[in-house]
Amino acid sequence: MSAVETIKARAPGFTPRVALLLGSGLGGLVEEADAVATIPYAELAGFAQPSVGGHAGRLVLGHVGSTPVAILQGRVHYYESGKADEMAPAIRALAELGCETLVQTNAAGSLRLDMPPGSMMVITDHINFTGANPLFGVRDKPFVDMVDAYDPVLVRRLLEIGRGVNIRCHDGVYIWFCGPSFETPAEIRAAVTLGASAVGMSTAPETILARHAGLKVAAVSLMTNYAAGLVPGALGHDHTIAVASAASGDLRRLLRAFLETYG
Ligand code: HPA
Repeated sequence: MSAVETIKARAPGFTPRVALLLGSGLGGLVEEADAVATIPYAELAGFAQPSVGGHAGRLVLGHVGSTPVAILQGRVHYYESGKADEMAPAIRALAELGCETLVQTNAAGSLRLDMPPGSMMVITDHINFTGANPLFGVRDKPFVDMVDAYDPVLVRRLLEIGRGVNIRCHDGVYIWFCGPSFETPAEIRAAVTLGASAVGMSTAPETILARHAGLKVAAVSLMTNYAAGLVPGALGHDHTIAVASAASGDLRRLLRAFLETYG
């Protein structure tokens, strides 16, 4: 049975409009939805099981307000397998089910001293610093346009909603490093020079896959740390998960308001 057939069998008549992909330590956002069905990735053909802490590996179908959403609680990263297209089956399945937009969250390192840990940044564009692409080998229309890949209307709406509910939201460029080692201070200085404001190990490949599948994309980063070398001290994944979980309240409120008024 294909993933789409399994989802239709488990949630008959349910057509999600927005797909929400939750990043490291941010799975708690799923509590904002009134669930109709919860399906472990293991039961969905092609869905890759995350292997790192902070990613549950479940698809939750339900409503936030009156908006039907499909929530991917956990993602697989390029560094887990060396394959950049592991999220392709999930993203294509949600597009086939009827989603028109992919909203992503991630934990990221801040490149800006005015965005301390706990800050949020709406992504306006990305830099793919890995040299990898999830569309390697794809024969069906792989030359995807990446101008306005992060939908400018959705970016504006997120920033407006942030102002409306009194949550400070920055905006800026996200740079994708492959991980799993954190960046060196020299790499971070290079990233600043290139114009990035946040660094992470995800999101860009899913944006490329989503644009290829015809979805609009919006994404919000939660800063869990200053990037390497910006301030003294070492970086670690456990810290990422802990800060993301502790600081996710504002992101939850922002996304709830965004989804409730999705229209
Ligand atoms: N670098 C890369 N990915 C990250 C970071 C970082 O500093 N923080 C959270 N995810």
